[in-house]
Amino acid sequence: SSLKIGLLPADGIGHEVIPAARDAILALGSTIPKPEFISLNAGFEYFTKKGVALPEESIDVLKNECDCALFGAVSSPSKKVVGYSSPIVALRKILDLYANIRPVVSVAPTPGEKPSVDLVVVRENTECLYVKQEEITPGPNGREARATRLITERASRRIGTMAFDIALNRPRKLLTIIHKSNVLSITDGLFRETVRAVPANAEPAGKYDEVTIAEQLVDSAVYKLFRDPQEFDVMVAPNLYGDILSDAAAALVGSLGLIPSINTGDSFVMGEPVHGSAPDIAGKGIANPLASIRSAALMLRQLGYSDGANRIDKAVDEVIREGRVLTPDLGGSSKTQEVTDEVLKRI
Ligand code: NAI
Ligand code: MG
Repeated sequence: SSLKIGLLPADGIGHEVIPAARDAILALGSTIPKPEFISLNAGFEYFTKKGVALPEESIDVLKNECDCALFGAVSSPSKKVVGYSSPIVALRKILDLYANIRPVVSVAPTPGEKPSVDLVVVRENTECLYVKQEEITPGPNGREARATRLITERASRRIGTMAFDIALNRPRKLLTIIHKSNVLSITDGLFRETVRAVPANAEPAGKYDEVTIAEQLVDSAVYKLFRDPQEFDVMVAPNLYGDILSDAAAALVGSLGLIPSINTGDSFVMGEPVHGSAPDIAGKGIANPLASIRSAALMLRQLGYSDGANRIDKAVDEVIREGRVLTPDLGGSSKTQEVTDEVLKRI
């Protein structure tokens, strides 16, 4: 049998880094079932040509044919474009990929790096302000804009459970709940309370006894992240805080171009680098492919192919440690393809 992998490079540097992830998977040979790649359309570039950002065909193939997928990045405009909405936000909802798991780990001293960061941001992936219910109306003080922030018990419970499971499987077993319930006592209050209640409802009872629970207001969490990143092990957060925290944490290990993620739920997994489409460097062949390559490894590990995942991670770690062939974001002068080739050689 084969492993069917949907590829959605989408926009910008997505087209440069997703092929690197594909090649890393191919280099594993018989370590994993024979990979079969299916290229799928999505993104803003596709929208400008065809009027749709996420064609039905891509959704159908992902749902009915693929075992997993790799997504690059989308260029979402900052102004409202009629008819456009972000395909990645849509895919997370359509495929019920309710968790975005973002490990941030330092390997070797790279420019700007703080010592030994080893944490995981577990981001809720389906609600919060990302329900995107916004409206604008005229008012006595000029136009008034409003956004709905949805937090449900169900989504908070399942992301909380996933975060407890991840914490349980790590050496420190420390879970920090990120919120702002001092101000948003109803929405963030529900998130905090529901995550805290996960151990009490666990099966079997006592399953999470070894996990230490901590909590931190999101603003001070960012402060502590920069002052003392070792304070954190697993951080669980509502959607928007989780997004911001993981970009911030990326700065601690040198570059966004190193940080992988998976979007996952109970039945599907989609690897995705944390970075965006990087229009400032797109098309120059200098995007760091390591975040995407590591996303492929995370995806394989989630599917149970830990040998393959470990081989990829080991190769990436070696390339970073050696420090000879790195892209400009890490202070090097190598191209995407040269870094990819170094990784492939080691796999
Ligand atoms: P970005 O992550 O694309 O770039 C931020 C900075 O990091 C830029 O200076 C960029 O050159 C650098 N960078 C990012 N990835 C890199 C890599 N692999 N190698 C080397 N340098 C890298 O974020 P930005 O500029 O705020 O957003 C650009 C576009 O990406 C926007 O349209 C935004 O909506 C979209 N975006 C999409 C995401 C997704 O698809 N999930 C996530 C974040 C942003
Ligand atoms: Mg982000």
